[in-house]
Amino acid sequence: MAKKFDVIVVGELNIDLILNQIMGFPKVGKEILANEMEFTLGSSSAICASNLSSLGLNVGFIGKLGDDIFGRFIIEKLKEKGVDTSMVIVDDTMKTGVTVALSYDEDRAMATYPGAMSHLTVDDIDEDCLKNTKHVHFSSYFLQPGFKDKLHLLFQKAKNAGATTSMDVQWDPAEKWDLNLEEILPHVDVFLPNIIELQSLTRKTDISAAIDSLQNSNGFIAVKCGSRGSVLFHDGKQISKPPFLHDNVVDTIGAGDSFNAGYIYKFIQGKSPETCLEFGNLIGAISTTKPGGTAAFTNLEDILKTAANSFNYYDTEQ
Ligand SMILES: Nc1ncnc2c1ncn2[C@@H]1O[C@H](COP(=O)(O)OP(=O)(O)O)[C@@H](O)[C@H]1O
Ligand SMILES: [Mg+2]
Repeated sequence: MAKKFDVIVVGELNIDLILNQIMGFPKVGKEILANEMEFTLGSSSAICASNLSSLGLNVGFIGKLGDDIFGRFIIEKLKEKGVDTSMVIVDDTMKTGVTVALSYDEDRAMATYPGAMSHLTVDDIDEDCLKNTKHVHFSSYFLQPGFKDKLHLLFQKAKNAGATTSMDVQWDPAEKWDLNLEEILPHVDVFLPNIIELQSLTRKTDISAAIDSLQNSNGFIAVKCGSRGSVLFHDGKQISKPPFLHDNVVDTIGAGDSFNAGYIYKFIQGKSPETCLEFGNLIGAISTTKPGGTAAFTNLEDILKTAANSFNYYDTEQ
């Protein structure tokens, strides 16, 4: 039977309120002004879902929102990007999460109220829903305490439903990195950490030692290394792919989530690990050409035009 979705993304949803060009750092009891402001859809998971949809896939989202104006804004933004929001849970006893970011040049000070997203649990996710998709991607474990010690059950459900799986753990704001990878990785086909997350999760600075410590993973481990590109580990072998460097980096917000979208796009089409990794690098690089994580992506045709014109990348497999 044909499946309704190519990918279902399970993850966090929140708003970003970003204050730019601020006159110094605010002090308790005082007020300062910011000259610029942005109010946008935040969430790594939402960026990945939006960009998978812009690449032309059928994408559904499972997450939790409050019944409020922020929640409605998030639904609207996901829909604008073509993401199916019919499985997003709206809970009127909760508030939608928000991050307030004070932006100083390249750096930001942020405070997050997680709200509804921290209440999504494995029990909210119906195995029958997962039968409707070829692939399940999960992101942002540490922002979703509802999955604490239970994430392997989500991936088991996905596998039982006949889907392939991927995971991006993302940053741990508490920096404790308390996650049982041994329990989870046997059910994950593609693990997508960045290099610092991999080192933190395994408590090993040496990358070979970090990968060796994940022996029970039989899937692919794609390690994102920022402007150094990415490296794939699988079955005792290693493949490196260089980045698509360019002179127009606006910001790197969502580069990793865009990389995930590129990698998954090729992975679910059964393309070679080299192709998946290279396309991940390409989509990560394109993301850096516009502000935020989704502005650089409209549709596949435009993405491939940018790839050819700006990055000399010609997709021969389309
Ligand atoms: N400055 C850059 N120029 C070109 N490509 C980049 C740049 N920064 C990131 N990328 C691409 O995006 C990918 C993901 O970025 P990275 O910063 O490693 O992830 P994360 O956002 O998860 O920390 C990189 O592996 C690389 O391919
Ligand atoms: Mg990331």
